[in-house]
Amino acid sequence: MIKDQIESLRRELEQHNYNYYVLSTPVITDLEFDVKLKELQALEEAHPEFFDPNSPTQRVGSDIAAGFKQVAHVYPMLSLGNTYSEGEVQDFYDRVRKGLNEEFELVCELKYDGTSISLTYEDGVLVRAVTRGDGEKGDDVTTNVKTIKSIPLRLHGNYPASFEIRGEILMPWSVFDELNREREEQEEQLFANPRNAASGTLKLQNSKMVASRKLDGYFYYLLGENLPSELHSGNLEAAHSWGFKISEATKVCKTLEEVTEFINYWDIERKNLPVATDGIVLKVNSIAQQRALGFTAKSPRWAISYKFQAEKAVTRLNSVSYQVGRTGAITPVANLDPVQLSGTTVKRASLHNADIIEALDLHIGDMVFVEKGGEIIPKITAVDKDARILIGDKVTFIKKCPECGADLVRFEGEAAHYCPNENACPPQIKGKMEHFVSRKAMNIDGLGSETINLLYQNDLLHNIADIYSLKIPDLIRLERLGTKSAYNIQAGSEKSKEVPFERVVFALGIRFVGETIAKKLAYAFKTIEALESATFEELIAVDEIGERIAQSVVLYFKDPLNVEMVTRLKEAGLQMSLSEEKLQAHGTSLSGLSIVISGTFSQHSRDEYKTMIERNGGKNVGSVSSKTSFILTGENMGPEKLKKAESLGVKLVDEITFLEMIKTVSPSEDDE
Ligand code: IVH
Repeated sequence: MIKDQIESLRRELEQHNYNYYVLSTPVITDLEFDVKLKELQALEEAHPEFFDPNSPTQRVGSDIAAGFKQVAHVYPMLSLGNTYSEGEVQDFYDRVRKGLNEEFELVCELKYDGTSISLTYEDGVLVRAVTRGDGEKGDDVTTNVKTIKSIPLRLHGNYPASFEIRGEILMPWSVFDELNREREEQEEQLFANPRNAASGTLKLQNSKMVASRKLDGYFYYLLGENLPSELHSGNLEAAHSWGFKISEATKVCKTLEEVTEFINYWDIERKNLPVATDGIVLKVNSIAQQRALGFTAKSPRWAISYKFQAEKAVTRLNSVSYQVGRTGAITPVANLDPVQLSGTTVKRASLHNADIIEALDLHIGDMVFVEKGGEIIPKITAVDKDARILIGDKVTFIKKCPECGADLVRFEGEAAHYCPNENACPPQIKGKMEHFVSRKAMNIDGLGSETINLLYQNDLLHNIADIYSLKIPDLIRLERLGTKSAYNIQAGSEKSKEVPFERVVFALGIRFVGETIAKKLAYAFKTIEALESATFEELIAVDEIGERIAQSVVLYFKDPLNVEMVTRLKEAGLQMSLSEEKLQAHGTSLSGLSIVISGTFSQHSRDEYKTMIERNGGKNVGSVSSKTSFILTGENMGPEKLKKAESLGVKLVDEITFLEMIKTVSPSEDDE
């Protein structure tokens, strides 16, 4: 049935959109996604009776995050039509030739694989930076973009009074590798590629952290009323002279042969670039000709992108192994005959989860295609079914934990399988301890993963609380541990007793409770006792704590083993409540004040401000009266409120001043 086919494609594409935009963990390549989307488009066009305004074909995607002010784009941010073959490039060339019926030039550019940004400059000063969002409106990320060193805040030369410039924000490979190395150390989820890392970074609420991530920006499109040139290439040159980073790989081509040459050259040479590229973009050079060709609903007729083929190799699947992480998540890994791919030898590939294995219809001994694409870990994209001579055993996801034998579970709506045996599954126990002692948690020097393993093997460590009952003589007795190391461990664990409460909450390793969430919980509940007895409802009432996290916290403290362990940690002398200092700063800066919020804000969302007011002892009220202490005022405050405030003499406080007032406890503030 066509209807079923359409609906199942929609569901599938929705899932991929979710994986990509929400989880930042795509499981298929862009090409595969585009092929499926085109298939759906064709079916929908042939069967308009099944039209659905919410079909994945009806949206261009959105990357809007909570907490940023939204701004409408003056010129909508469109995407480009994608092509994958020289034939399709030729088709584009022919369409342009027919459409114009006169000579034309094409500008060839690299297609940078980051996240797009629109910058507005007025009188040579950067006034606004907005993400693509849904194409019509995006997030105002000016504060974050200002941290990017290669983006000029003030221009030089002869620039128009007002213009917009678009480009791509990128995370260089070197920065990306380092960031993932750090995340691996912290057992945080790795970014799949620099694109996700760049867009994730741009959406951080803490611009200091953004600055530390060393993003870069390349620009490729100038818009406005008084542009310097009637040629796209001329505008790029001008923009370069004002201070923008414009790719040197930009070439004006007069013939299709020149275009092909550009493509072939950069397909190889791009591997030496410091940032990721995934294709090339062709644009008609003359702005007048661009105008003549115009736009379709989604993209310009005067430009197109050509996507490079991801590098592929074929090799044999020998076996599938399953790794158990600290949280019990099971990762299936394919063991392959070694094969060369993009200059490295590939022996293993990620298989992601049970659904992917099923969809690939994998059998042991199969010849499989591995691809690197933009991802760091190669993945299996297909099976060469024609190469099957003898068919091996079908790969079916394991039912029991390979480490402890417990029955695996799968949470609703999640792709991963988990081993639920948290307190008795060796890699989970050891993983939890490694997390507990890590730098951002308790920071216990002297206890690396090898030492933890040694102590675990020798029955000296069973759970994290045991760290505080280790005795020097027991440690010294171990052959592989010197006296000095033993004392180091003791000194490290003594010192960790000063680590603040919020980091202790993080160190416990409660599933889904990362650094930021731990901090939120610590500030909201203030003591471990309050957190232990918090109900699901109390937990979700906290800003940014969703059902998934709330449930996980409740489950954690429901387990008597965890409760006992926390009690032992308390007895050992760990910080189990917010420090006096933080409590002070926390509770009192707005105490007794009635505050009205009005207007739109750029630093935090309205809800966040509400939370901040409450956390600082203030009261958020809806309407202005003589009892109102002050109005937290954003842009475009309602005229009624303004009038009333003036007549009653109520003070207006802007967001920067407000943040100064409460300094210590904005919800997304970080220690580092
Ligand atoms: S031009 C109306 N040029 O690709 C034309 N886009 O699918 C606007 N991109 O959203 C885009 N490199 O994020 C253009 N040299 C380049 C590009 C480029 C990367 C991205 C950009 C855009 C997407 C289009």
